[in-house]
Amino acid sequence: MSEIIAFTKNNADFLLKEALKGREKIELSLNLGKNKQVVDIVQGFVIPKQGEKHKFALEKLQKLKENTIYTIENQKVLAVELFSKESNLYYKLRPTKDWPTLMLSSVPMHRFITSTPKLDTESKINSIKPIKGKVLDTCCGLGYTAIMLAKNGAESVTCFEKDPFVLDICKYNPYSLELFTNKKITLINENVFQGIKKLESETFDRIIHDPPTISFAKELYSVEFYKELHRVLKKDGKLYHYAPNPKKTKGAEFWKTMIKILKNAGFKNVDYYKKSSGIVAKK
Ligand SMILES: C[S@@+](CC[C@H](N)C(=O)[O-])C[C@H]1O[C@@H](n2cnc3c(N)ncnc32)[C@H](O)[C@@H]1O
Repeated sequence: MSEIIAFTKNNADFLLKEALKGREKIELSLNLGKNKQVVDIVQGFVIPKQGEKHKFALEKLQKLKENTIYTIENQKVLAVELFSKESNLYYKLRPTKDWPTLMLSSVPMHRFITSTPKLDTESKINSIKPIKGKVLDTCCGLGYTAIMLAKNGAESVTCFEKDPFVLDICKYNPYSLELFTNKKITLINENVFQGIKKLESETFDRIIHDPPTISFAKELYSVEFYKELHRVLKKDGKLYHYAPNPKKTKGAEFWKTMIKILKNAGFKNVDYYKKSSGIVAKK
C-alpha cells in the first residue's frame, strides 16, 4: 500500500517536458511530494520504481485535468474520483498547497483556501493540547486528524467513518495510508451516531468531532449526539468540535447555536475559536 502512485497534471507536464528533451531518467515525486524517485523512460513508457507492472504510456499524460489526482492501475492512468449510486455522492481527491482534500459532491472536507488541510488539522489538534490518553475521532475522512493524534501523544485513537467509499479514496492518498498501518489507530467503518452508544462512559481523554457541514450530517449536531459525546468523555477531558458556518452569507453565526446545544448536553467552559473554526468544551 505504501507504494501507491499519486500525481497531478503538474507532475505529468514536467514528465512530458523532460521526456521531450530526450531524458531517459527523470527525478520527480509520484506520491504528492512525500519523497522523490527516479523513473526510467523506455520506448514511450514511464517505468517507476514500483516496477514494470506500474508502467504507463507518456502519451496518456497529455490531456489531464487540473485540480485532480491521478493514479496508475493495470498500466492505466486513472483519476482518483468515483460516483456512488448507493450514497448518491461524487467523491474526489483534490490537490491543495499541501495535503489533498476530499470533495464530497463538490463540498471540501477541509479548509483549503483560507488555510490548508495540514494547517487545518494542526489547528484542530492544538486547540485541545496536550494530546494524551485515549482519543475519539468521530469522523475519519482522510484520516489526517487520527494520524496526527496518533503521532502527537495519543495512547490510542478510536476513529469512525460511516462511508466505505471515503475509505476507498483514502487508499489512493499517500497522506492517508498510515490510517491503515498505525497500530494506535482503531478504524471503525460505522455511523458514529449509532456506534458511540456501544462505547463505555468516561473512556476518552480527548474527543475530536469534525463532522461535515450540517446538511450532510444533521444528527451529528443534535443534543442527543452531544449527550453521547459528553457521556464518553472523562471528567477532565476536552472536546474539539468543528463549527461550520452554513449561513455565513446571511450573517448568522451558527456556532452560537452549537454552543447553546452543547451546554444543554452538559458541557462546560464552551468557547468558540475563530482560528481553528471550532468550539472547545470541557466536561
Ligand atoms: C470533515 S470530514 C472529516 C475530516 C477528517 N477529520 C480528516 O482528518 O480528514 C467528515 C467525514 O465524516 C464522515 N461522516 C459523515 N457522517 C458520519 C457519521 N454519521 N458517522 C461517521 N462518519 C461520518 C464523512 O463521510 C466524511 O468523511
